[in-house]
Amino acid sequence: MFKNLWNNSNKEISYNINKDCVPNHIAIIMDGNGRWATERTLPRSAGHRAGVEALRDVIKTASNIGVKYLTLYAFSTENWKRPESEVSLLMKLLIEYLRKEVKELHKNNVRINVIGDIKQFQDEVIEEVNKAINKTKNNTGLCVSIALNYGGRLEIVNAIKHIAENSKNGAIEIEDINESLVSSFLYTKNIPDPELLIRTSGEIRISNFLLWQCAYSEFWFTDIYWPDFTGEHLIKAISDYQNRSRRFGGI
Ligand code: IPE
Ligand code: IPE
Ligand code: MG
Repeated sequence: MFKNLWNNSNKEISYNINKDCVPNHIAIIMDGNGRWATERTLPRSAGHRAGVEALRDVIKTASNIGVKYLTLYAFSTENWKRPESEVSLLMKLLIEYLRKEVKELHKNNVRINVIGDIKQFQDEVIEEVNKAINKTKNNTGLCVSIALNYGGRLEIVNAIKHIAENSKNGAIEIEDINESLVSSFLYTKNIPDPELLIRTSGEIRISNFLLWQCAYSEFWFTDIYWPDFTGEHLIKAISDYQNRSRRFGGI
């Protein structure tokens, strides 16, 4: 049984998963907003709006069952290829989401974090993101990392540049470069690797998400489009994860 920690309710919720081995970190590629809308003869923007709505239940469920880190792929370094109008709509929805939801998230002890290079975004977006990060920075509950202008390869390239600079000025010896040092130069430096990576919408690919961090993650794919994804689907993914045998190269 899990306590419903939101809305000050003490109601116990039962989920068919083992409470003692809930993944610490779940990463989600939230895909399929466009197709969700097209199937309903709606504009793609309606899919993105519905996608934002889906976040509430998923974040709440993750928090209730004791997930520590939830990383959500919201905008990739490749998504700039989309029409300008769609990119600006996505930015607008991000601002709206933060303005509307941060209060409730803060109340529920959620910490908001961003991974990715947001310098390329407009000032208004950067401001809203920084406000959310600052407001929630001392919270000790679920850490929600939003991946914005995130690309796994860019992240690794940036890490290599920083390590090279440090090596050039003598702060790092080549012998000291190891996996944990590389990890410490990534956006996710204080976050453990995800045990579970979920992708919605039926695409079976990683699309440049958390390339380094997913080295040993369990992958869970579903045909469900992101706007239809709920806390119950998250529980199903965790339940399947709990039946996997993770060997890490051993026997
Ligand atoms: C995911 O949905 C949202 C973002 C990538 C921002 P899509 O917009 O990729 O939806 P599909 O894949 O076209 O259906
Ligand atoms: C991945 O989805 C990026 C996000 C969910 C933000 P895409 O829809 O951009 O990925 P591809 O193009 O299908 O690989
Ligand atoms: Mg897509």
